[in-house]
Formats: sequence, C-alpha cells, structure tokens
Amino acid sequence: METLNLVPAYPPLPFPMPVWLMQTLLILGFYLHALPMNVIWGGSIVSAVLFFLGRGNANSFSFRSAKALAISLPLFISFAITQGIVPLLFLQLLYGPAFYVSSILMATFWLGLLGILLVSYYVAYYIIYRVLKGEFGRNTAVKASCLMISIFVAFALIASLFSNNLTLMQTPEKWLPLYSSSPHGMNLNGNEPQLVPRYLHFFVASIAVAGMTLGCFGLYLKKRNEDFSKWLLKTGSRIFLVATVLQIPIGLWFLKTIPAQFASAFMGADTLVTITFAVSMSLMLLAIVCTSISSGSGGSKAFVAGLVANALLILAMIVNRHQLRLMYLNPHIKPDLVAVNTQWDLLAIFLVSTVALIFYLVWLCRLVWSAYHPASTQNVASS
Ligand code: HEM
Repeated sequence: METLNLVPAYPPLPFPMPVWLMQTLLILGFYLHALPMNVIWGGSIVSAVLFFLGRGNANSFSFRSAKALAISLPLFISFAITQGIVPLLFLQLLYGPAFYVSSILMATFWLGLLGILLVSYYVAYYIIYRVLKGEFGRNTAVKASCLMISIFVAFALIASLFSNNLTLMQTPEKWLPLYSSSPHGMNLNGNEPQLVPRYLHFFVASIAVAGMTLGCFGLYLKKRNEDFSKWLLKTGSRIFLVATVLQIPIGLWFLKTIPAQFASAFMGADTLVTITFAVSMSLMLLAIVCTSISSGSGGSKAFVAGLVANALLILAMIVNRHQLRLMYLNPHIKPDLVAVNTQWDLLAIFLVSTVALIFYLVWLCRLVWSAYHPASTQNVASS
C-alpha cells in the first residue's frame, strides 16, 4: 500500500487563519511551553541533587537553592501545561492528519501521560506542604530529594512520550507496519534513529535551563543577600556551561541520525535553514563565553548576557526543529492547499486571551513569591 494513502485528508472546513500565522503561533507557543518545561524537567533533578548535598544543614546554600527550586516547581508546571495548549491547538490544526494517526497508534501510552502528569503535579505540592513544612532534619532533605527524583522520572517519561509521538507523526511509512503489529495503541517509535539523540538533546537542554533558573534566583537576591546571590550565579552558570558543552556532541549525533538530504539542508543546501542554524551556533558560543565569565566571577552582567543569548538560542533551535518537521512532512501533508477563511473576531479573542493569560501568570508568580518571602516584599515596599 502506498504511504500517501494512509495519510487521512484534512477535514472539509477551511482553516480559520492563514497557514503562515498558524505556523508562527505554533513556534511561539512551543517556545513558551519549552521554557517552563525545561525548568521543571531539569529543575527537578538539579533540586534533588542540591537537596542531597545540603542534607546536613538547612542554612546551606545547596539546601536553600533546592528549596527555592522546589517551591517554584508547581508554578512552572502550571506554566508548562497552560502554555502547552497553544502549540497543541496549532499542531492539530496544521498537521492533524499526521498527529492524530501517530497519537492513535500509541494511544494507550499517550493517554497514560495525563495520569503521570497528575500524580507528579500532586507530588510537587506534597514536597512543599508536607515534607518541607516540618522541622528540618537530615530525613527532610533526603525525603525531598527522593520525591524530586520521582517527579524527574515522571517528567522524563512524559517527555519521551512526546518525542515518540512527534517523531512518529513525521514518518507515515511506519504507520501500517506498527498498526499491524499492535492495533491496540501499544506502539512506540523505538526504532527511530533520531529518537535517542533528540530526546537527549531536550534533556541536556533542560539541565542547562535549570542552571539559568538558579542564576535568575541569584539576580533576584542580588540586593538582599549578596553571598547567596553570587553562589547562585556561579553555580547556575557552571551547570549551564557543563550541559551546553555536553550538548555539542549530542547535537552532532542528532544531525547524523536524520536523513542525509535533511542534514545537508543545515549545512548549506537550504539558505534559510543554514542561516538559522548558524545563528543558533553563534548564540551558543556567545552563551558559553558569557557564562564562563559569570561562572568564575558570579557577575550579573555576564550572566544576563548569557541568559539573553540562551533565550534566543532556544528560539532559533525551535525554528530549526520546525524546519526539520516540514522537510519530513512536505511530501505527505500540504496544509497550504487547504482553503482559508480567516475569522478575525476569533483571532482577536485568542490573542487577547493569550496576553491576559501571560499577565495572569506573572501576577500569580508575584503572589506566590510574596507569600513565601513576606520580609523581602516588605523591604521592597518600604524602600
Ligand atoms: C509537564 C510535563 C511535560 C513535559 C516534560 C513535556 C515535554 C515536552 C518535550 C520534551 C517536547 C518535545 C518533544 C520532541 O520534539 O521530541 C514537548 C512537545 C510538546 N508538548 Fe510538552 N511536555 C509536558 C507537558 C505538556 C502538556 C501538558 C501539553 C499540553 C497541554 C504539552 C504540549 C506539547 C506540545 C503540543 C508539543 C509539541 C509542539 C510541537 O511539536 O510544535 N506538553 N513536550
């Protein structure tokens, strides 16, 4: 049977907005999902390690930074979930014929994702309100560390399900053999060569972003507690640095596992893809240089420069990831051929709600922060 015949047709309804706009919103939406998702995934394991290192002393920088990460985790989980809805909507609209099939092929695992997410969200709150609320003892930190590891494993599972699904949707030629071997939604995309390096690429990036998050805590505390702030800036920069240097061989491995004609697009065959890739690499070098400086000095200026370079680097990489997806899907799916009937009123409501949601989340962050730091809020208010 021909691969093409297995790809369902788009529904007969026209698209509610132009394809280029939906692609832009998909990329930006995924960017807003990727940032908090990286914080929670990498942050959970970094926090587990720091809890363990600081198990002997509640006043140690390790314990305090682990606790700060733990307290912020539920907030970032809610960011990751709410900001995950945006790309989910546009992914389904633009590439639904591929995404729905791959989701059905692995439906049992895919639906299980929700259960894993619910339990890990609960455990994140449990750590704050049950484990860390009591008197500090060696057991407190060890227990918090173990529970953090359990959350980390849960996020790692969720992320692997996403990587399985998003790679499977790109390869329609695998769908029929997989369905024939298991029609009950018990398939994964384990034999996909790019799966492991792609997954590791996300995982190591999440450790780097967790380092940046610690550094951001350091920036916030700069005027209130200089020693702790410097420690956070140095430690965060070091974590970022190690993870990003490790990312270089993983990225090369990733590039080697994609089909040669796609890899060559990154190496000059396609101008736009090559420019985006070159920009990413330059931003990576800049981030490495800046965080090398801040990892030694604890300086906030170098750290902020590294932070900005990294934020732009992630965006450029997400654009590259989208370009790679198009290379895979172009022969099979043509959203450009679907009729468009732009619903400007709905688009306006969507954009206003998105901006309102971002304001709400910022307000929520401040509220939670002030609840945990009443003294510092009063200081700020009185100064
Ligand atoms: C909280 C735990 C979560 C983690 C650790 C996580 C992790 C990931 C990872 C690693 C990817 C990229 C996979 C790849 O390209 O190989 C991804 C993509 C995605 N995630 Fe999440 N995710 C989480 C929750 C969610 C939730 C709850 C939603 C939906 C409400 C969501 C929506 C998406 C979408 C739509 C994409 C694909 C975007 C695209 O391909 O353009 N995620 N996620």
